[in-house]
Amino acid sequence: METFPKEIELRNGQASLHLMSEHDTTDMLAFAKTLPAHDLMFLRRDILQPHVIESWVRKIESGKNITVIATVDKEIIGYGTLSRGEIDWSRHVAELRIMVGPNHRETGVGRIIVRELFRIALDKSIEKIYARMTLDQTGARKLFQELGFHPEALLENEVKDREGKVHDVLSMAVDVETFHARRDSYGLTR
Ligand SMILES: CC(C)(COP(=O)(O)OP(=O)(O)OC[C@H]1O[C@@H](n2cnc3c(N)ncnc32)[C@H](O)[C@@H]1OP(=O)(O)O)[C@@H](O)C(=O)NCCC(=O)NCCS
Repeated sequence: METFPKEIELRNGQASLHLMSEHDTTDMLAFAKTLPAHDLMFLRRDILQPHVIESWVRKIESGKNITVIATVDKEIIGYGTLSRGEIDWSRHVAELRIMVGPNHRETGVGRIIVRELFRIALDKSIEKIYARMTLDQTGARKLFQELGFHPEALLENEVKDREGKVHDVLSMAVDVETFHARRDSYGLTR
């Protein structure tokens, strides 16, 4: 955890990573407004609402969530969150949510954020990580597949967009140890 903030190299230049805190509330709202409506659907909450971001910060402060933010010139270009649920018996499980701004995709930032989250997961004794996405989020599916995630459940008609249309959600999961076994190719160390 002491490795933040840090500079990272993307395909199109440099960016910085830091852990989210209350100081990021306004910038996170500005970032949310740059996101296509469709991409917001796999998130559990509507991050266009200021009170949702405030409650996210409270979860970070209580240790339930950890969010890594990527910035360029202090502007948020993406983030990834590890979120532990409320279930006592599933305290070894966390959900991973990742979002990169449309103008910054395919620059390598998504993979770097995921790598950092796995480093944190190892540190926090999280054993299983899952991620949810709509079926057409091909970038996300490819990225997670490559990292060893496998489809675990298809949740039919799980989300309803702002126009009222329903979409299926795919839940993919991986054991942190499986990911760890591939760590050499992702530059991970315990
Ligand atoms: C998924 C997402 C986070 C990927 O971020 P990114 O910064 O674009 O990803 P990277 O540049 O690090 O790419 C990593 C790998 O993902 C895959 N990938 C990313 N975008 C892709 C696309 N549009 N089509 C196919 N594969 C893609 C590739 O395998 C890529 O590796 P490569 O560049 O060596 O080919 C980003 O597309 C996003 O925010 N999507 C919307 C939100 C979402 O679907 N979140 C996932 C649900 S948890």
